[in-house]
Amino acid sequence: MNIVYHQQSKVFHMYNESISYVMMVLKNGHLGHLYFGKKIHDRKGMSDLLELAARPMASCTFMGDKAFSLEHIKQELPVFGTGDYRSSAVEISQENGSRISDFQYHSHHVDSGKPLLTGLPATYTEDDDEASTLVIDLLDPVTKVRAELFYTIFAEGGIIARSICYHNEGAQALKLERALSLCLDLPDCEYQWLQLSGAWSRERQIEIHKLASGIQAIGSMRGNSSHHHNPFLALKRPETTESQGEAIGFSLIYSGNFLMQAEVDAHDVTRVLAGIHPDTFSWKLEPKECFQTPEAVMIYTDQGLNGMSQTFHRLYQKRLARGYWRDRERPILINNWEATYFDFTEEKLLMIASKAKECGIELFVLDDGWFGARNNDQAGLGDWMANPARLPNGIAGIAQRMEEMGIKFGLWFEPEMVNEDSDLYRRHPEWVISVPGRAKSHGRYQYVLDFSNREVVDCIYEMMAKILGQAKVSYVKWDMNRSITECFSSNLPPERQGEVYHRYILGVYDLYERLTQQFPEVLFESCASGGGRFDPGMLYYAPQGWASDDTDAVERMKIQYGTSLCYPISSIGTHVSMVPNHQVYRQTPLHTRANVAYFGTFGYELDLNKLTEEEIAEVKTQIAFMKQYRRLLQFGTFYRIKSPFAENEMAWMVVSEDKRTAIVGWYRVLNVVNGRFTRVRLHGLDPEICYQINADSFCCYGDELMNLGLCTTDSTAGEVRREQTPCTDFESRLYVLSAVELE
Ligand code: DGJ
Repeated sequence: MNIVYHQQSKVFHMYNESISYVMMVLKNGHLGHLYFGKKIHDRKGMSDLLELAARPMASCTFMGDKAFSLEHIKQELPVFGTGDYRSSAVEISQENGSRISDFQYHSHHVDSGKPLLTGLPATYTEDDDEASTLVIDLLDPVTKVRAELFYTIFAEGGIIARSICYHNEGAQALKLERALSLCLDLPDCEYQWLQLSGAWSRERQIEIHKLASGIQAIGSMRGNSSHHHNPFLALKRPETTESQGEAIGFSLIYSGNFLMQAEVDAHDVTRVLAGIHPDTFSWKLEPKECFQTPEAVMIYTDQGLNGMSQTFHRLYQKRLARGYWRDRERPILINNWEATYFDFTEEKLLMIASKAKECGIELFVLDDGWFGARNNDQAGLGDWMANPARLPNGIAGIAQRMEEMGIKFGLWFEPEMVNEDSDLYRRHPEWVISVPGRAKSHGRYQYVLDFSNREVVDCIYEMMAKILGQAKVSYVKWDMNRSITECFSSNLPPERQGEVYHRYILGVYDLYERLTQQFPEVLFESCASGGGRFDPGMLYYAPQGWASDDTDAVERMKIQYGTSLCYPISSIGTHVSMVPNHQVYRQTPLHTRANVAYFGTFGYELDLNKLTEEEIAEVKTQIAFMKQYRRLLQFGTFYRIKSPFAENEMAWMVVSEDKRTAIVGWYRVLNVVNGRFTRVRLHGLDPEICYQINADSFCCYGDELMNLGLCTTDSTAGEVRREQTPCTDFESRLYVLSAVELE
């Protein structure tokens, strides 16, 4: 990769084999944007890529120069109030009440590798030659605020990571009213906007619409990134499919309130902005203080949506997730939540664990209800000590018994919350986020602790670290079951109340950092009523996340398919649960529940003692299968093939790095009578390799499977014969493809 500065034309050109990113210092000193897309030639005169046009009614910067109008110039850090009437990336209010800034080029330098962001999650490098970072300093001459713009280009793939640090080098106290992480001005609007939206138990559904004039946006003002919109956006060309065409993916590495928007102006220029949601944010910057924005990642591809996703997967799996578990196959777990809810005793848990052990499960996770007076969801949160009535031997005791049984032990926490009925709340009612003198809204009978206050975080840290230090806990499920209301911190002065949401998330990150550093071999799984905070920020601390509280296999097809747009398979928490399903009351076959859950971290969420012998035999086969193939399933190259959002059938597949093994998952929602011939055209295989499909003697070359396709026609449908397993609704099949040497 290369970062070139053409001194004469003041053009920066960052490029690698896949992409170019081009900017220049404009005549007024601001940083203009010239190009982001497929790699183009580097040449000295690239400044002529800047389009200037004298348009009627424009507000112009220089007397007599009608073409230099910020409204019509593509920019890197557009400001409010000096002629650009589109949404800006930054707004700073000053002591005299003005909100104008004028960020002019001051200096730049190039570093190899990539700097870490203090207190914030971000992508990283392990070797300096993996990436280069261009740091450009812009200075506002009046306030003396220095904007330090970071642009990292990775050697591999079409990735640019961006963030900005604002330094107050002047003498007056200022207020950042808006500090977005990314602005990208694209020269046209021929794009479709793709977002991942939904609600609790219906997270990350793919929604696509054509870009239109004006502003379209997604975001969250709940305090968590939310079930409703994921901090991810893709702009794709109308003709782009999963396997071909241009797309740009935008992802914000942040878990709090965010905004992602595209604004199409009157001349069809598209401005994309991403960052902390400005409506719930302001930040006081005293002289000598600085503010670092979260990091935003942009990925350009001309290899279709699968190409974009695979780049995100590699980056987030290898250079965002960290630690002991990053590259390790994830343990097959059993979680007791849907098996018992709050109705358990130590003996009952041990019986579930013992059956799980017999089936080959490696980790038992004790979910909600083990602490304080937590007999239902109305009490106990905040009191992180085992309830002796349920666990007479404490956490250390039950963990020990599990270990002796040969199964690892994991534990649920909801560190950020407190019930009114808890010792912690009785001691510290002032520690909850609420406005003194006003009523407090609750969610699930609980309040949100003020994690913007270091003292609160310290107290929760002490309780958690004590348990993790004293007992053999191998896994932590970190839950978060309500959003913030009446946002106010009794610990901050009036002029800093706009900082609470962001400081809260910094507190969450701080606690995660301390615990993951102190207990590096503990596997953390993030959770927020399922997928309410399934975002890249969390991935930095917890390499996997519980994708949704909806465990129904059919619902999960859409949730996991949507999630895979941005997030690696190794990060998607997936479990086989009981039927009828607890969320939709649907009866799906056991094999389909597993066939969906294999494409994730894989586990069970039911009482295995309630299954028939036949079912237990099937579970044992499933676990053996997962153990055999989990490296491929979790870390292979993943391809979406048929979308559950479009059809009655869905298909996806994973391919090993050497392309000698692949697994295809094929799923049909409703049964079809006397249906059509169906084939699935596969991806990513080696055309020259001959693959055996399952244990069939039948072999096919990669080129046949990719061009003609894998035959999935169901010859049983419409005619249920005695000698056959009847084919039902919610049918699915797995095809394991293994390279064979032909004589
Ligand atoms: C919400 C989570 O998503 C569930 O898996 C479970 O842990 C419950 N909370 C427990 O209260």
